[in-house]
Amino acid sequence: MGSKLLVYLLFCAFVCVSKGKPLGDELQSVSQTLHTYLDSLPKGISIDDFATCTSCKIVADLLIAERKLGMTNEQLVKEADFVCTLLKIESATICEGIIRPNVDVFAYMIDNTKDISGKRICGLILPEKDCDSEHYDWSIDVPEGNTVDKPKATGTNPYNVLHISDIHYDPRYTPGKTTQCGAPLCCQDDQDDGSEEGTSCGYWAEYISADTPIQTVEEAFKQMATHEFDFVYYTGDTIRHRVWSTSTENNTKEIITITDLFKKYFKVPVFTALGNHEPHPVNTWSSEGVDDPSVSTQWLFNLIAEEWGEWLPEEAKATLLKGGFYTVSPKKSLRIVVLNNNVCYNENWWLINDSKDPYGQLAWLVEVLLEAEKMKENVHLLMHMPTGTGSCLASWSREYRRILSRFANTVAGHFTGHSHKDEMWVYYDSTDSSKPISVGWNGASLNSDKSNPSYKLYHIDGETYDVLDFEEWTFNLTQANLDPTKDVEWYKLYSFKEAYGVDSLEPSAVDDLLVKMTKDHSLIQKYYNYKFRNSDYAVKEGCDESCEKTLLCNMVSTMNGDTTRCEELKQLYDGNQ
Ligand SMILES: *[C@@H]1O[C@H](CO)[C@@H](O)[C@H](O)[C@H]1NC(C)=O
Ligand SMILES: *[C@@H]1O[C@H](CO)[C@@H](O)[C@H](O)[C@H]1NC(C)=O
Ligand SMILES: *[C@@H]1O[C@H](CO)[C@@H](O)[C@H](O)[C@H]1NC(C)=O
Ligand SMILES: [Zn+2]
Ligand SMILES: [Zn+2]
Repeated sequence: MGSKLLVYLLFCAFVCVSKGKPLGDELQSVSQTLHTYLDSLPKGISIDDFATCTSCKIVADLLIAERKLGMTNEQLVKEADFVCTLLKIESATICEGIIRPNVDVFAYMIDNTKDISGKRICGLILPEKDCDSEHYDWSIDVPEGNTVDKPKATGTNPYNVLHISDIHYDPRYTPGKTTQCGAPLCCQDDQDDGSEEGTSCGYWAEYISADTPIQTVEEAFKQMATHEFDFVYYTGDTIRHRVWSTSTENNTKEIITITDLFKKYFKVPVFTALGNHEPHPVNTWSSEGVDDPSVSTQWLFNLIAEEWGEWLPEEAKATLLKGGFYTVSPKKSLRIVVLNNNVCYNENWWLINDSKDPYGQLAWLVEVLLEAEKMKENVHLLMHMPTGTGSCLASWSREYRRILSRFANTVAGHFTGHSHKDEMWVYYDSTDSSKPISVGWNGASLNSDKSNPSYKLYHIDGETYDVLDFEEWTFNLTQANLDPTKDVEWYKLYSFKEAYGVDSLEPSAVDDLLVKMTKDHSLIQKYYNYKFRNSDYAVKEGCDESCEKTLLCNMVSTMNGDTTRCEELKQLYDGNQ
């Protein structure tokens, strides 16, 4: 939603010009260009067609010019609100709630970025149009060297890890409210009641436009605590989708509530990553050295350094405070590295100011992996964002994959969140697309986004720290909502090895499985159902041929813009018809 919103926001600069305000010379000439451009467009053009590099740049330049001529944040908010409401993007309350904090960050960016230009802004918000490759294309140093030999896992001293993701805890979830609220998040205490049969928010959650009420979070934690595990991995997104009313105070409260529940239910260390929803406004991670409290993300780093501190060594504090990432070694020859890779999100406006390896995080990762390699440690990588989604900056995902290729045998496990789905991502060597090097396991989510709430339990080799197998646990949300007085019936949905008939979860074995899927489509159907944890929503939707191919492609998309393996698998699929 953010990128679109910004295009609208920029559009506002045009609207205020048309409202007949007297213009300075500079503005006059930019607005002339804009009018000429708009006149040249075909009638009835949609906002998507309008969002080209050219139009975006003209409007963004106009906005910059207006700001430089003294337009205040208040005026910006007012005008953006006007456009947001006029175009019926959202209701007035929601428009204002989203726009206000974003305007603060955005205006700060214009004021403080030396070479700010429309081109720069559009390069971020329209990544697929490649408006400013100069600023957004960068690389980091990855030292040469051979990746060390790695012994095969034998299943020695296995132990379990619990993986939770995307809780999206909603303190204002109210059963009985309407599921058809028209806002980005429904079932809110300040929305209408559900009336007709079937539009009333259930007790535990809903498949569409709903987040996770406290009773569902606690129910899930109680259930998870019945398993045995040595660690919990939590891959982020604690904050709900009520993006129009986030605040540092409320986000702080919600993060503390969830961290307290971790401490109450789990007697083992919890290693947690930040999600893109944690900051205020959503998705924004201020550049290093920005200390203005009205726009800085430092409050969040301070908070987690405090809240997560008891599971971490003192040394972790420095990087936590710098950018929300850290490393810890909780077992002999196991190293956990937790990244804050939300910075790569193309709705993180701060990339306009500084896009190159924010917080020096990737450079730091290289250092940590070099040291781990030297010490013969095995690394588990945790992060919120899968790198292959269209929303992660291409340079960030490309450099990340280069690092992974160099240290393929040092990295034993790879865990992500964000998509809310039970998915996996197969990474291939950056110089040899036929060589699978790593599998990212997505934690699915506690959140019921088109899916049944779920969690994963991994079996880990106690010597190589490879993932030996995992179980996915869930319950039928429709069934549970029918009678909330009954116990929730959790069940093991599947174990990976058994479900797909594979011997191991090594990258090469998973790659073989993908090839097998191109022939045996029942395996893709299985993957589809598991992806949504057999939810009634997904079962009803079904997955046709084009959906099957998309699923295959998603599993091998780990770098924005690289579709090599995807095309190969599609060809195999088509050849096997
Ligand atoms: C980014 O913002 C910081 C803090 O305001 C500023 O010091 C720095 O110069 C900006 N970077 C660029 C490239 O303008
Ligand atoms: C923060 O939470 C309180 C209590 O739910 C609520 O009244 C307030 O409106 C919230 N703040 C914002 C900015 O939404
Ligand atoms: C979930 O429960 C509902 C209500 O009992 C039932 O109709 C539905 O078939 C169940 N879904 C699945 C996938 O078993
Ligand atoms: Zn997310
Ligand atoms: Zn999420």
